[in-house]
Amino acid sequence: MPRRLYIETVGCQMNVLDSELVAAGLLRAGYELVDSMPAADTILLNTCSVRRHAEDKIYSKLGRLKHVKQQRPGTIIGVLGCMAQKDQQKIFRRAPHVDLVVGPGQLGQLPALLSRIAAGETQRLQVSRERTCGDRRSVLASYEPYNPGRTPKMRPIPHQAMVRIMSGCDKFCTYCIVPSVRGPEQSRPVGQIEAEVRQLAAEGCREVTLLGQRVNGYRDDGTGRTLRLADLLARLNDVEGLRRIKFVTNHPTHMTAELIEAVRDLPKVSPYLHVPAQSGSNRILKRMNRGYTVEAYREMVDRICETIPGASITSDFIVGFCGETRQDFQQTVDLVRYSRFKNSFIFKYSARPRTKAIDLYEDDVPYEEKQRRNNELLAVQNAIILEDNRPFVGRRAEILVEGPSKVSRKRVDKGGIIQLVGRTVCDRIVVFDGPAELIGRILPVEIEKADGHTLFGKQHPIH
Ligand code: SAH
Ligand code: SF4
Ligand code: F3S
Repeated sequence: MPRRLYIETVGCQMNVLDSELVAAGLLRAGYELVDSMPAADTILLNTCSVRRHAEDKIYSKLGRLKHVKQQRPGTIIGVLGCMAQKDQQKIFRRAPHVDLVVGPGQLGQLPALLSRIAAGETQRLQVSRERTCGDRRSVLASYEPYNPGRTPKMRPIPHQAMVRIMSGCDKFCTYCIVPSVRGPEQSRPVGQIEAEVRQLAAEGCREVTLLGQRVNGYRDDGTGRTLRLADLLARLNDVEGLRRIKFVTNHPTHMTAELIEAVRDLPKVSPYLHVPAQSGSNRILKRMNRGYTVEAYREMVDRICETIPGASITSDFIVGFCGETRQDFQQTVDLVRYSRFKNSFIFKYSARPRTKAIDLYEDDVPYEEKQRRNNELLAVQNAIILEDNRPFVGRRAEILVEGPSKVSRKRVDKGGIIQLVGRTVCDRIVVFDGPAELIGRILPVEIEKADGHTLFGKQHPIH
């Protein structure tokens, strides 16, 4: 009987992609995928370390899995991803019933490691080697990027796919764990990415999202001249069958004129840019080691808006970073008001071991104050979303239909018409009623209502 795999994922899109690739690899190795833990005999948790809260949730889940192991001793429990790299043996100490700990740079070894556990080995740890580098605490010396062949049926939405173009990060923002768990920046060659995207398009994929922790730091030096993200986008724009190209996450210091113009000029590239600002205060940006000033960030926003009319920009913010005063926070609010982001993801600062901030600064903003600032910034951002969504009412928008909305996943279908959800080219969510056959199509809808983050539309009659 094949082994039955259940895989659960937290963290960023990079982790979601890793889980998709891991599951595809194990399917090829003869596993069967199940959608609940009780039905599984191999349980993998793909983890995130970016904030303490994410780790606490994983440890409490691991605690609960102890009973599963007691009741069904043949069950294999594996911890993958960033927390595996960060905590290593500590995971076995805190959860002795875990069989396998595998870092994000060793995912290619999973099928072999799982076979060894099934054959009776216990507590295998496979992570990247670490070495100390200058004043930085540690960097990974043996991260192996994992980009195996794809299996179309593994993607939750067949006409959308994520494609890794680079991994790791060399920026070392003082608060961030990512460089010490995902290793140094490594870009994939243009030719390899292009071949993967061509294959995806031939299989019916209409939209790709290019992934990298610092995606606009992409470079391929292997072809005689250095190819950058703008060059890669130009190549992918020519892929037949592909309709939309997005990329995340950008760093503000690398939003070059060349890249912004490529977004303007290449018809398949969405005018949607995720460029996290993190703070609106120069003092805090300096403490964070972000490498730009708020004036430079505003100037970048101006350049994007002038070059690409109708572009949407999204951001991330950390509130309550070490030493952040009310005045610093007010400058963040001012930046959100100035930039009118399409959306902002707001996080309360969480001190992480192995980052510079934990050594350099005191985590001195009380939790309640972080929560207050979080709510305040969210309210400002939400008001902007509502104001900027209203002008869409009465207009026509072209959307890629992604699937049934949350409502219609629960509701019984009435006469073949369900509530569907799609996205505009600038990443706005549109909900409308239509038949399920529309999933995967790009079509015009009339926007009738704007409500918070969602636009409501009516399918435009096609003559
Ligand atoms: N590579 C991306 C994503 C990094 S993690 C980037 O550079 O933007 C995603 C977001 O988590 C970050 O943008 C930041 O806003 C937030 N984040 C990172 N470390 C954090 C910490 N220690 N506490 C709270 N939020 C954090
Ligand atoms: Fe983390 Fe900064 Fe790198 Fe983003 S750029 S992954 S926030 S270190
Ligand atoms: Fe988390 Fe790792 Fe992504 S720490 S945010 S899963 S790169």
